[in-house]
Amino acid sequence: MRGDEMTVQAAGGVGLKVKNLSVMFGQVRAVRSVAMSVGPGEIVAIFGANGSGKTTFLKAIAGLVPVSSGRITWRGEDITAMPPHERVARGVHYVSERARVALRMTVRENLDVGGYLRTSGQRKTSRDRVYGLFPVLSEKSAAPAGILSGGERQMLVIGRALMGNPSLFLFDEPFLGLAHEIRDRILSVIEGEIKGKATILLAEHDVEAVCRVLDRYCIFLNGEMIHQGGRSEAADGGRLRAVFRKFYQIGRNENAGGGGT
Ligand SMILES: Nc1ncnc2c1ncn2[C@@H]1O[C@H](COP(=O)(O)OP(=O)(O)OP(=O)(O)O)[C@@H](O)[C@H]1O
Ligand SMILES: [Mg+2]
Repeated sequence: MRGDEMTVQAAGGVGLKVKNLSVMFGQVRAVRSVAMSVGPGEIVAIFGANGSGKTTFLKAIAGLVPVSSGRITWRGEDITAMPPHERVARGVHYVSERARVALRMTVRENLDVGGYLRTSGQRKTSRDRVYGLFPVLSEKSAAPAGILSGGERQMLVIGRALMGNPSLFLFDEPFLGLAHEIRDRILSVIEGEIKGKATILLAEHDVEAVCRVLDRYCIFLNGEMIHQGGRSEAADGGRLRAVFRKFYQIGRNENAGGGGT
């Protein structure tokens, strides 16, 4: 089923609208005609096996990979061909676990990079807020980011994103490799500080964690959006597991039948 037939419908208002988006890497069709709309303040999760196109989809919205066809509008403005920095200026931030922090710069300097488009007063307010959310960053503010643990570094990545005061967060596996304690801390920041204020698209393999905060979700398979569901379905563990069994099984069969790589 194609994305233009299956559209994740926003609850209302002008937020993100993606129409028939496709991304090709040479002969590889990484994203195939996906349509999605996300209302202001909503959290939509994208699930799917490795290689199903989640990262490519988020990066296309951020302008980090070229789009082959389709249209992306954010708050009513067509951003499909806009350079990434202009999207950032409009509040669109891609936040990846793989995003690098500057190892020799201090924690505070790294945070300030995230707020470079803002006034020094706004930066200070945001920095204090981030320090309140992640006290360890305050304790280590003068230390080089290179001494941070993996989990602390991930807090810095999220804190740096918050410094820019984004209106659209594109979170790519924010919980990858994190201990549950740090994962839960970041989840509560998403729930308490971001949810309702900014729009969030979130790709994750940790389905159980994400189901605590999502409004709606969709499943990608081989670049296509093949299923969508709402909060009530996500909250029903048994039903969700049945959905995943069904679609992941389809994926395995298709891959087996497709000759593999
Ligand atoms: N820069 C690239 N050049 C060529 N092919 C790419 C590139 N980036 C991604 N791909 C391919 O596009 C497809 C989708 O990849 P993508 O990284 O979007 O998947 P994903 O759903 O994010 O996977 P994961 O869960 O492992 O992060 C894969 O087949 C991948 O090999
Ligand atoms: Mg990915």
